[in-house]
Amino acid sequence: MENLLYEKVNENIGILKINRAKYMNSLNKETLNELDIFLDEIEKDKNLHVLIISGEGEKAFVAGADIKQMKAMNCVEAMRFSKLGNKVFKKIENLQKVVIGAINGYCLGGGLELALACDIRIGNEKSKFAQPEVGLGIIPGFGATQRLSNVVGISKAKEMIYTGDMIGSKEALRIGILNKIEEDPIKESIEMANKIIKKAPIAVKQAKKAINFAYNKNLCTDYEVECFSTCFSTTDQKEGMSAFDEKRKANFLNK
Ligand code: CAA
Repeated sequence: MENLLYEKVNENIGILKINRAKYMNSLNKETLNELDIFLDEIEKDKNLHVLIISGEGEKAFVAGADIKQMKAMNCVEAMRFSKLGNKVFKKIENLQKVVIGAINGYCLGGGLELALACDIRIGNEKSKFAQPEVGLGIIPGFGATQRLSNVVGISKAKEMIYTGDMIGSKEALRIGILNKIEEDPIKESIEMANKIIKKAPIAVKQAKKAINFAYNKNLCTDYEVECFSTCFSTTDQKEGMSAFDEKRKANFLNK
């Protein structure tokens, strides 16, 4: 697959990397479609018990959805894009494997949403987190309006989503986005995975199902998809995304 790299550490542990380092591993339609197919394939690998997800290169885990691709989207296309992202991230969340996010740098927008779909997140001193969407004239569209509140509480989630402020790994650890900060998140993820695979595999799977059962009942991404796509009928979305592309400050007129 063009945008994904996958390798097995051993029979039971695999590492998937989003492979678009030139564009900070941002998620375009093609990458999400590849992820969708990849997840179906690895679900069939009965020996695989832990999947580690990370980003290729030194700078980014994932810096969000692909703004250059979203810039030209209309409401219908944005709705399809948001549905696709939500479908893929739900697949990750409910994968019958433990999923660990190894957060090696920028973890923004759709990147933080990807991380939130993982069971556990391990970062390093360089990891940075934000939901910057409102600065682009849109809202999070891959689940953060639901999952961020579940992880950090509704007040902190609202603060992060309304301000778009970037936080460092210490603050992310403090508010519960990160489980751990380690120098090498992939190495630490493999260590944790090695602990997990020594436990009874069926019991671990049943634990994940039981934890997610109640959690999934409250997860409502359909309304997020609707609100996300509505933003694509506004001049703010056009201005916000053009400003990013042109490397300038956005000038929103709908005050
Ligand atoms: N989409 C598309 N391209 C991106 C991108 C993204 N999310 N993030 C970075 N890139 C591209 C840049 O445009 C640049 O490409 P060019 O060389 O063609 O100009 C390249 O990756 C390198 O990025 P920078 O030059 O900007 O690198 P930097 O070190 O100066 O800054 C950064 C890094 C802080 C991550 C900055 O790139 C940035 O702010 N990125 C956007 C983050 C963002 O707003 N994410 C949210 C996206 S919206 C979303 O995710 C919606 C959703 O919920 C579905």
